[in-house]
Amino acid sequence: MTHQVILDCDPGVDDCIALLVALGASDRIDLQSICVVAGNVPVDVCARNALGILALAKRDGLPVYSGCDRPLRVAPSFAEHIHGRSGLGDATLPEAIDSLQSGHAVDHLCQALSSAQPGSITLVITGPMTNFAAALQRDPSITQAVRELIIMGGADQAGGNITDFAEFNIFADPDAARIVLESGCRTTLIGLDATLQIRCTPARMQRLTGTDHPASQTSAAMVAHVNRIYGEVYGAEGAALHDPCTVGYLLEPELFTGHEVAVEVDCSDGETRGQTRIHPLDNAAGWPRINWVTGLDDTALFELIVTEMERL
Ligand code: RIB
Ligand code: CA
Repeated sequence: MTHQVILDCDPGVDDCIALLVALGASDRIDLQSICVVAGNVPVDVCARNALGILALAKRDGLPVYSGCDRPLRVAPSFAEHIHGRSGLGDATLPEAIDSLQSGHAVDHLCQALSSAQPGSITLVITGPMTNFAAALQRDPSITQAVRELIIMGGADQAGGNITDFAEFNIFADPDAARIVLESGCRTTLIGLDATLQIRCTPARMQRLTGTDHPASQTSAAMVAHVNRIYGEVYGAEGAALHDPCTVGYLLEPELFTGHEVAVEVDCSDGETRGQTRIHPLDNAAGWPRINWVTGLDDTALFELIVTEMERL
């Protein structure tokens, strides 16, 4: 099956790897457009990085739309301390082949989803959910086109990474996360409980540096920066490959385990802002039902990630 996909991201090191996997798997993923949103780095840097990834993949002509430069309500949060000011760690990307589309990502999402066939589009979101939330606020009927939302975000037993209580994508725009998770779309949420299980260990770094493939070399340079920054946290295990889990799930869901839950997003301005509280369905209390991913086969998933991006 070929999935029609729109990928909304904040590239960022792991977003870039997710993009490379999606672009490599072009026999199964028809990537229709890329939307970028402020998150790891400011939105203009995200846009430059998305265009650079397309140049690296030699995929000119794929439209990139720049989106929201700040969250719906809260002040912007960035993660340059992890991804570097460039958002690319130690890597550099080729000069862009194409330029940005002139329209805003929110306008694009509204137009593309309102005109698409019912249930035809898989929306993958690997950053703060601001763009899609703003599109839903403008036109709630766009959900008609969504086959599934596959989102990297949230944490349960894993606590948090930007605070002790919250994962970055949710913390950065909790109001957007609540709007999107309450949209009624079929939703798979892949949080830290799962993504922290796939680390870029020294052996996996050698796998990436052991070939002369540009996608693997670039990914190694990006992750090496995060490994260095996070050395004292991740130790020898290496940085987690959060965002590629979304594309991996789309390609091979059997590599993942999860179950239906109700998810509550903390939109307070206190210390628990952005916390995702996972409730069993018999205690849903009106919170939206989603597929909550809790496990994955990290060996098979890492091989899938590298295999697909090395098809470029
Ligand atoms: O918490 C991990 C998430 O936050 C990833 O999407 C990473 O790119 C950052 O955006
Ligand atoms: Ca991201």
